[in-house]
Amino acid sequence: MQASDQPPPRPQAPATPDDRRAPAIEFVGIDKWFGSNHANRNIDLAVAAGSIHGLVGENGAGKSTLMSILYGFYQADRGEIRVNGRKVTIRSSAQAIAAGIGMVHQQFMLVDTMTVLENVLLGAEGGFRLGAAEKRARAELRRLAEDYELSVDPDAIVG
Ligand SMILES: Nc1ncnc2c1ncn2[C@@H]1O[C@H](COP(=O)(O)OP(=O)(O)O)[C@@H](O)[C@H]1O
Ligand SMILES: [Mg+2]
Repeated sequence: MQASDQPPPRPQAPATPDDRRAPAIEFVGIDKWFGSNHANRNIDLAVAAGSIHGLVGENGAGKSTLMSILYGFYQADRGEIRVNGRKVTIRSSAQAIAAGIGMVHQQFMLVDTMTVLENVLLGAEGGFRLGAAEKRARAELRRLAEDYELSVDPDAIVG
């Protein structure tokens, strides 16, 4: 299709249902202390569905702490997390996965002796029939690699 075949832009277009959707993930007033160390201070952050965010800050700024709260590794001392507009309580990684949240950890948290695909699948096998889950994960990895132009060999050993 050529550019001229595209419908003209609608600058006054009304908000689509997508625009009105609640954020996929929202942190509201999150505080976290480790003893007297105030690691997260009143964090508000909304992540819209379909968007990609980078959380940037110096070492010790509290990035990992905030993500660990989202994944149920730590509990916030104050504030709440909402998923698709609903307040959720996430006390374990299993509850995070059930809420649709996945975590890809920093490299030192990966299992060195396993492949990329096995690390992706870890914790989300969905039962004993590994074959089906592996097939799905492989297809999804391939799709992501194509979409984001990343060359990732799913069968490469991580370590
Ligand atoms: N388990 C923990 N126990 C005590 N202090 C911690 C713990 N995890 C992180 N901290 C402290 O919380 C602060 C934020 O750390 P962190 O979230 O790892 O920062 P970042 O990921 O941005 O480098 C730092 O001062 C760090 O020393
Ligand atoms: Mg960190």
